[in-house]
Amino acid sequence: MTERHFIPPIYNATIEKGSVTWESPSNIALVKYWGKKKDQIPENPSISFTLDHCKTITTLEFSKKTDLDDFDFEVYLDGEKKDEFKPKIQTFFERIEVYLPFLKQYQFTIKTENTFPHSSGIASSASGMSALALCLMSVEKQLINSDVIAGAIEEDFNSTYFNQKASFLARLGSGSACRSIEGDMIVWGETKSVKGSTDLFGIKYPYKIHDNFKEYQDTILLVDKGEKQVSSTIGHNLMHNHPYAKNRFEQAHQNLESLKQILESGDLTAFNALVESEALTLHAMMMTSMPYFILMKPNTLEIINKIWEFRQHTGLNISFTLDAGANVHVLYPKKESQEILQFIKSELVAYCQNGHYICDQIGFGANQIQY
Ligand code: DP6
Repeated sequence: MTERHFIPPIYNATIEKGSVTWESPSNIALVKYWGKKKDQIPENPSISFTLDHCKTITTLEFSKKTDLDDFDFEVYLDGEKKDEFKPKIQTFFERIEVYLPFLKQYQFTIKTENTFPHSSGIASSASGMSALALCLMSVEKQLINSDVIAGAIEEDFNSTYFNQKASFLARLGSGSACRSIEGDMIVWGETKSVKGSTDLFGIKYPYKIHDNFKEYQDTILLVDKGEKQVSSTIGHNLMHNHPYAKNRFEQAHQNLESLKQILESGDLTAFNALVESEALTLHAMMMTSMPYFILMKPNTLEIINKIWEFRQHTGLNISFTLDAGANVHVLYPKKESQEILQFIKSELVAYCQNGHYICDQIGFGANQIQY
């Protein structure tokens, strides 16, 4: 399959105006995407848990306009106009216009809100871009009046095509957003060990997942809610000519292969080691970039050390992962959650900014909201 698969047929329905709403979750990578090529193609495969509670809810209102020269849209967060979000969406629209040729024909109002605090340091780009991509797909679906289209295309515009294209579009907004459309585990990036994996969009992890990972818990410790000093986009670019890039990209393929065995066997000790190694490797790549940078904070390290100490003493299956920031995602199986949550509250929350943390768990993807 190539990008051309997502260039639509000529639209045969007309709609003057309407409104669609989607809620879409965040996700946390176990094997990390870090480094990309042109057009948001990842340098290595990644796999993530879709989250359940951390979501963006986006309503897209659209009405037909006569001037077809430019994109025309407004963005609101929690009811407040946010012009500072416009450049990112403008770039997104420019990248996806060839796949959604109706974009210049409508005036859009994008109304968005997050279930997690905006300034939590939790990246809202995955949930935000996936929610917007899904809204745009719902508009396209209305423009393709499947009743009057010849069989092949009608066949194509089923839910598989819808989800694949939503993920494909979301990827062009923010790479990790392509892993937020479905759940519970999503693979993005072509790799030998996962059949059907592709650089173009995220796919549902197609193999057996042991019961140990059902309802896996993710408690997000908000260590630093400030703006990151180095954005992910800049960080990805620093993997070009990075001295360890080649090894790192190969390692991600191997880790995915290893994780496949772990997910099947339910080996939590091996799981803990693999996800922690991935998190620290991600940050090691940042520290060995040129220019180098550090996104962890002193409290990130305090938490990591406490987790290791607690695991050593209790034998419980607590582990951590990190994304591109100082916050710590504490991962653990549902059946050990009582003791681990108590430990988090009594020992770890003290390291969070204003004591803030979010309890989340594996989720199953985005939903359209019908009003
Ligand atoms: C460290 O998806 O935020 O969270 O494609 O430039 O928008 P862009 O980057 P983004 O990068 C996320 C990187 C990561 C790892 C991951 O989620 O796989």
